[in-house]
Amino acid sequence: MAIIEAIKKRYSCRDYIDKPIEQEKLDEIFEAARLAPSAKNLQDWRFVVVTDKNIKSQIAASTNRPEVFEKAAVIIAACSVSDYVMTCGQAISPIDIAIALEHIALQAAHLDLASCWIGSFKPDVVRKAVSIPQDVNIIELMAVGYPADKQMNPPRELVKNIFNINKWEFKK
Ligand SMILES: Cc1cc2nc3c(=O)[nH]c(=O)nc-3n(C[C@H](O)[C@H](O)[C@H](O)COP(=O)(O)O)c2cc1C
Repeated sequence: MAIIEAIKKRYSCRDYIDKPIEQEKLDEIFEAARLAPSAKNLQDWRFVVVTDKNIKSQIAASTNRPEVFEKAAVIIAACSVSDYVMTCGQAISPIDIAIALEHIALQAAHLDLASCWIGSFKPDVVRKAVSIPQDVNIIELMAVGYPADKQMNPPRELVKNIFNINKWEFKK
């Protein structure tokens, strides 16, 4: 599959069927995340993959769509154990985690699975549910599972509105 096909196939899935993800598919998803680039190749990400229904429900209850995300086969808690800040002033943790999670989302799409980024969640609830230590940052969650809905294709900006060549010529 060409990369662009997986990119076009990925969408934010808001309904899942009750079907576990095969171990081979999970392994491929984990491998996609493992191979992601990271600042200084620190690879300071750690992922807790929640498959247990009871723990999933506790975590989903802290999100903006409890009834949706508790149905996903897994919820992945993406954590960073680094507070490294790059020369540009940006912390690496959200950037590195975002790259790894998008690798997961694209590999999931390639495997006919669906996913959804989850930023609307309560870290304290997740921390307690899966025993994440206090000094570890929980950056983002991602639900992954077999979809029960259809891709909606919300609109995107035109390329000409978001790319300038050589000079900033955006109106604002
Ligand atoms: C960093 C990030 C956080 C997000 N958090 C949530 C969330 O908490 N709940 C949710 O339903 N969707 C969440 N989304 C999904 C976005 O709403 C979605 O990507 C956007 O509307 C575009 O739709 P699409 O992913 O189907 O193309 C998040 C997406 C990103 C990238």
